[in-house]
Amino acid sequence: MTSHEDVFGQEAAATCFAPGRVNLIGEYTDLIGGNVLPMPLTKGITVTVGPALSGVHAFSTAEETKIEINLGEGKKNHWADYVAGPLVMAEKAGATIPPMNLMVESDLPAGAGVSSSAALEVATLKALFAFTGQGHSNTDIALLAQKAENEFCGVKCGIMDQMAVSVGNQGHALALNCETLEWDQVALPKGWSIAVIHCGEARQLTDGAYNERRAALDEAAAEIGPISLRSQSIDVAEKLSDPLVVRRVRHVLSEQARTLRATEALRAGDMSLLGKLMNESHESLRTNFEVSTGSLDRLVAAARDAGAFGARLTGAGFGGCIVALVAESERESWWHAVSTECPAAWAVEL
Ligand code: GLA
Repeated sequence: MTSHEDVFGQEAAATCFAPGRVNLIGEYTDLIGGNVLPMPLTKGITVTVGPALSGVHAFSTAEETKIEINLGEGKKNHWADYVAGPLVMAEKAGATIPPMNLMVESDLPAGAGVSSSAALEVATLKALFAFTGQGHSNTDIALLAQKAENEFCGVKCGIMDQMAVSVGNQGHALALNCETLEWDQVALPKGWSIAVIHCGEARQLTDGAYNERRAALDEAAAEIGPISLRSQSIDVAEKLSDPLVVRRVRHVLSEQARTLRATEALRAGDMSLLGKLMNESHESLRTNFEVSTGSLDRLVAAARDAGAFGARLTGAGFGGCIVALVAESERESWWHAVSTECPAAWAVEL
């Protein structure tokens, strides 16, 4: 294993970790300040940091490349953007960025939709602040990381991923209100397991499609007027003028209602209801939000046929992973049936 010392000739001064995440339900609701229910994975990204004589240098063990980061330059369309962006945003917010060396090590599958970019952004910021002793709350770190994604990388994402990987707790779902940023942790009841299965189709480059979804919601908000989309009743969707915007809003408002019910179901241990709501979520993402693909739909169907209580695409869609709710005792036979039906699928280690 490569160590910080191997790469930079000096021991690391601090080591910070941020996990990947899977979202149980509440897809795209963060864009209207709604509720979400993501869960951190045990796998994630570790960033070590130590002093440098001058400049900021980053090394990725996966890429085996050392890059000098010039904070005055913009994005370069490679992995180090998720290091540079957060540092640029931290500096803009008043933080000192000293000369330093950063080493990035990941055991997350990249491009699978499990938030490897949010994990890298958050781990970078935690490493910076641990190194310099500048105190920041985990929520502030998540907000800075989101800013980096929005303004530096150009993806107009919501706050779910950065909050999930910054404040989430392993083995618990994070019941997060994306408007107030209030949250609490809900433990997964015993006897149940969450499976994250990749459909075998890489997540396509989706920044454009993602930003389009956001633009449709912004258009709806402008048409509706001063009261936020989040607090509207579902039938407001049907009054909008553009049929495409109608479908997009139908999704986020119905998903918001489902997420609140699903969170209560999880708290109460009502797994049949949680599973049913997950299934409905997939249907709405497929028909109203139009972010599913043939491979995701087939995998969701196979997961349900093999006995999952609920299954749906997770994250932004357009390929990547599904999440399924499975009884622990049936997990092995369930996976055998699913992988026989969908041979390209693979299980993401949680
Ligand atoms: C991506 C974004 C999140 C969220 C999800 C969809 O992961 O980064 O903010 O919108 O898509 O729920």
